Amino acid sequence: MSDAELIILGIETSCDETAAACVRGGTDVLSSVVSSQVDLHARFGGVVPEIASRAHNELIIPVTARALVEAGLDGSRIDAVAATTGPGLIGALLVGVSAAKALALTWDVPFISVNHLEAHLYAAFLEDPELTFPLVVLLVSGGHTMLVCMEGHGRYRLLGSTLDDAAGEAFDKVARFLGLGYPGGPAIDHEALSGDPEAIAFPRSMMDQGLDFSFSGLKTSVVNYVRKHPEVSTADVAASFQAAVVDVLVTKARRAAAEVGATALAIGGGVAANSLLREQFLGACATDGLHGFLPSRSMCTDNAAMIASAGWYEYRLHGSSSLATGANPNLRLSTIA
Ligand code: KG4
Ligand code: ZN
Repeated sequence: MSDAELIILGIETSCDETAAACVRGGTDVLSSVVSSQVDLHARFGGVVPEIASRAHNELIIPVTARALVEAGLDGSRIDAVAATTGPGLIGALLVGVSAAKALALTWDVPFISVNHLEAHLYAAFLEDPELTFPLVVLLVSGGHTMLVCMEGHGRYRLLGSTLDDAAGEAFDKVARFLGLGYPGGPAIDHEALSGDPEAIAFPRSMMDQGLDFSFSGLKTSVVNYVRKHPEVSTADVAASFQAAVVDVLVTKARRAAAEVGATALAIGGGVAANSLLREQFLGACATDGLHGFLPSRSMCTDNAAMIASAGWYEYRLHGSSSLATGANPNLRLSTIA
């Protein structure tokens, strides 16, 4: 069978989404099922690891079964099973990794270990296989904020990352402080629609320096500002905060693309679903003459199609993974020197 025909079942359980997907040849998505646990965690204002693990346990079989049914496949048609082995919550990861290994053994097919961060990078290729190297990807999620140069498949150079909070974490913390609920990113995105982004000049940390990020000072500025001006409009705070985050993200992504001579720029991770970031990102790419790639919103947030896709590239490059490969909550992106 040619690689283009290989059908991979991907499984993702690193945080609060239980997801399974069938993808043929790395880019042809036959099914993608995502069951979000957001309602279970909302009343706690954040993801509770123990609740996440239990919910994954309940959902993993029905979600995987649905991914097979929606793709019109039974197990005998699956050529390999890929699962996120890290980074993420250990109890949550273990559910998906164990399920994937059990299915690989039952069907006698290879098991492929996938790095969640690498999968977010591959979400761009799922929707635009024509993307060319060197490609700079701005990866902005709840746990990570990084600029990565992809020099080829499986060849990554870390250009910059956050020194403190991730961008999504800043959205979540500010939203919680403003009483906008959880998850914070979509809540701030929505609230900002009726606010003035220039109402408050929040700081743009490290804007003129390098490719690293820092968001904890911005979060503190928001808290201090609101305590000092309790009458301020929440929509104006949300819009001004969002403008500050997006300004820094877009400025640094453009700088990174210029520094490495990239021809294309992509974004990924949950925060890439943000309306203002999407608009400003595309505007910047047009101005700089870069092939800008913006995944659909469902491909930005956690899903298993990106796991199956990254698994396909991993399998082609390195073959299958040992069944002894465990879940690793602190797995890092393996970078080239
Ligand atoms: O990639 P993801 O689904 O999970 C992680 O691997 O972290 O990202 C979740 C993060 C959360 O912090 C959430 O608040 C943020 O992405 N997010 C957004 C938006 N949608 C999700 N942030 C800003 N604007 C949005 N529209
Ligand atoms: Zn993620």
